[in-house]
Order: sequence, then C-alpha cells, then structure tokens
Amino acid sequence: MANLEEIAPRGSRGYSLLQAIDFDRLPQHIAVIMDGNGRWAAARRLPRVAGHRAGIASVKEVVETSARLGIRVLTLYAFSVENWKRPKSEISTLMSLLKEYLQKELSSIIKNNIRFCTIGRVNDLAPDIQQSLQKAIAETSQNNGMIMNIALNYGGRAELVDAFQSIMRQVAQNGHRDTVITEQLISDHLYTSGLDDPDLLIRTSGEMRISNFLLWQIAYAEIWMTPVYWPDFRREHLLQAIVDYQKRDRRYGGL
Ligand code: FPP
Repeated sequence: MANLEEIAPRGSRGYSLLQAIDFDRLPQHIAVIMDGNGRWAAARRLPRVAGHRAGIASVKEVVETSARLGIRVLTLYAFSVENWKRPKSEISTLMSLLKEYLQKELSSIIKNNIRFCTIGRVNDLAPDIQQSLQKAIAETSQNNGMIMNIALNYGGRAELVDAFQSIMRQVAQNGHRDTVITEQLISDHLYTSGLDDPDLLIRTSGEMRISNFLLWQIAYAEIWMTPVYWPDFRREHLLQAIVDYQKRDRRYGGL
C-alpha cells in the first residue's frame, strides 16, 4: 500500500480522497484525453500555446501521483494524427514543449522508477523529437515501476490500420495463409501489445467524445469526464476519478 502522506499532505482534500480509495482495487491502466488547453488560455486572454505550457504542470502532477499510487500504466494523449491540421506554430510549440519536458523531467522519471514508452506513428515525427523520445525510452527501459505511455501522432483508426498491415506482413513472411484472425491476434499487433486495456478513461474540458483514442482498447473502460480544463487538472481530480471508478459495477456484458 502507498504511503499516503507521500501523495498528499495529511488534512488536505487529497488526503481524505486517498483514505476513500481501496488500494487492492486500483485501476491498473488509466488513459487520459488531456483537453481544454486552448480554452484555458483563451479564458485568460493568453495565446493557445500558454495553455499547452500550463498543461505540463498537470502532466507532472498526474504522472507523479499515479506512480506513487501504484498505477501500472498511464497513457496520455499528447498529439493525435488529426492535430497536424493545427497552425504550424502551435505544432512546433507542442513538439518543443515535449522535448523540454523530457529534458527537464527525465531524471525524475528515472528516480520514480517509471518506464517511458510511446504509442503512435512516432517515426513520422522530426528527427530531434525522435531522438529525445529514444533517449527517454532507453534510459528507463530497465525500470519496473509504472509505464508512462505517451500517445504521439496517434489515432485509433490508424493504429488498427497499422495492426492489420502488420498481421498481413507476418502472414506473408511465415506463409501461414490459414492464420485465423482472433481478438488476441489483433491486440497483439496494436501499439499497446502486451499492456492490459485501460480500466479508466479520463477526459477533461467537458467534451463528451472519444476523439479516436484507443478505440479497440477502451471496449470496457469506465469513462470519467470532467469540465475542468487540463491545465487546472490536479491530483485531487485524479483521486476523485479513482474514487468514482471504484463505485462502478463493472459487468463486462454479464449480470
Ligand atoms: C488539447 O487541448 C491538448 C493537446 C492537443 C495537447 C496536449 C499536450 C500537452 C498537455 C503538453 C505536452 C505533453 C506532454 C506529455 C509533455 P486543445 O488545444 O485541444 O484545447 P481546446 O480544445 O480548448 O482548444
């Protein structure tokens, strides 16, 4: 069981939420659609990129709190295949922020025993970004604590396309033309191969949609949505999501 005072100070709202959590029934995998950075900035008459920058503090807090709680996998949706439609300047700021985050936070990621991973068409990102990602992946590859999974140039449909192409390549290589398509085979060819599906999907900013995120994997995820914009999302919101998750009756289609 986690040391509660390492997560939130005694007497705080976070601490009382922690006391309501059953540590034997934590969601193993939490996925987050971090939304509302632009609206957070607009509400303050700031440029959109100020919202992305402010969102980094939320990333840090959620990563650190999840690792201390004992969450196994945290998947964060940072950049979608559709986000290339945004102005070039916003895209390049987002990429710089990612690089800056990795430069500043890698030592703390290592210290917290977190393994850094990515999902998405990462090979299409600029070479310097790929290098930063590779460095973080390599330097944390021996860590056996939480997996921090960043979705970059990610799309749920693109992932399925890539999975089917990968299955076709495998069939062509090994000549097993009688390969049977099963759910397990498809899961094994997704970017998330080897990871359990998310138990809890959090979306911030009040939007009620999935936005092409982990379409296959969230089949039975519990969804928790909040009107809070991502830059305002704090430890207490994460803990509240977990408390609410633990009140749900997960039946997986059964009774
Ligand atoms: C959605 O807000 C957010 C994004 C597209 C980017 C999220 C990125 C970060 C929080 C920073 C970098 C991430 C890491 C992991 C270091 P939006 O711009 O769609 O907001 P809006 O809907 O209010 O316009």
